[in-house]
Amino acid sequence: MTYFGDLQAAGRSASPRVYYFVIVCLLSYIILDFVLHHSGTSQCADLVFDAAKAKAERAERRSDAIDAMKEDLICGSVIGHLNSGPKLPVAKAWNQMKWIGAPARCKVKGHLIESLDEMNNFRRGFALKFVGDVEDKTMILPWLYGSKVDLNKRARRVYLDLGANDFHTSVQWFSRMYPCDFTEVHAFEVTPGLFRIPKPGFNEDTNWSPENPHSIRVKQQPQVPDWMVDRIKLYNTYVSDADGDNAINITKFIKQELKLTADDAVVVKMDIEGAEWPILQRWLLDPEMAEIIDELFVEIHYRHNTMLDFHWGQFSHSREEATRLIASLRAKGYFIHAWP
Ligand SMILES: *[C@@H]1O[C@H](CO)[C@@H](O)[C@H](O)[C@H]1NC(C)=O
Repeated sequence: MTYFGDLQAAGRSASPRVYYFVIVCLLSYIILDFVLHHSGTSQCADLVFDAAKAKAERAERRSDAIDAMKEDLICGSVIGHLNSGPKLPVAKAWNQMKWIGAPARCKVKGHLIESLDEMNNFRRGFALKFVGDVEDKTMILPWLYGSKVDLNKRARRVYLDLGANDFHTSVQWFSRMYPCDFTEVHAFEVTPGLFRIPKPGFNEDTNWSPENPHSIRVKQQPQVPDWMVDRIKLYNTYVSDADGDNAINITKFIKQELKLTADDAVVVKMDIEGAEWPILQRWLLDPEMAEIIDELFVEIHYRHNTMLDFHWGQFSHSREEATRLIASLRAKGYFIHAWP
């Protein structure tokens, strides 16, 4: 054998011993480290560290609690809910094409809600000409209470449309778009013949078509299905704060006639040409109504030069009062949006 051959053989036979040595060293290190860090002195060091950390955490919690308390105080008042969004100059509004609305500073019922956009008469989409009509409600979609809380878990799910106009105006919108399968729809429209409940007789099941090369899966354009029609009840009366000539006291109707409670899902849309003022002022002072109504959509009518084209000159309250009313209702726990 050559000198190098001997050395190689020695290396091969020595290598397992080297491995054992390395393993023993590592094990010793682990054991030593374990013993050292669980001895009295190191525990003391841990305690010192913990105390400092805990103190810092306590301070942080205290300042969080103070912040939360300040926020509670602010958000329990009208001021917190007023002027709650970033003010966007009207001239720069075109810059906000993808704007879906900033959240308000204060939450309502623990959930974010859109900031009030008084400057655009609460109709940003219309003011920016995203839509030619006010009947586009996409700006409300991210803020629906029904998409934050599962209202479908409630046994009774009621939609009240006060000032329903045509079937397609809002009853259809809420039936299709609102994330709740309403078991009752109560539609109030005083103008006779304006609101027509769609004709029953459309069957969703028989309208189904097998897969085909046209990718169309129904035989005819769907109509309003029977089950939906059956749930709609129409009232040809005025919605009011007091019972009267062809007018019903809506508060009494909700509490005594429908017997709605906080356990039910209740969504209310209101567009009643100024009659909303006394009703909402009453609800402001009625904590029971704030519990019963889960979400409220209201067109509040006011007098402002920018709304004269819409014949709003007849109304007496100012736009500032309207904004304050919405903010006040939010402070009382009403999840309220300007409609449309
Ligand atoms: C409407 O009904 C409510 C609830 O019953 C009642 O408290 C209120 O006084 C009524 N409104 C008027 C103007 O009488």
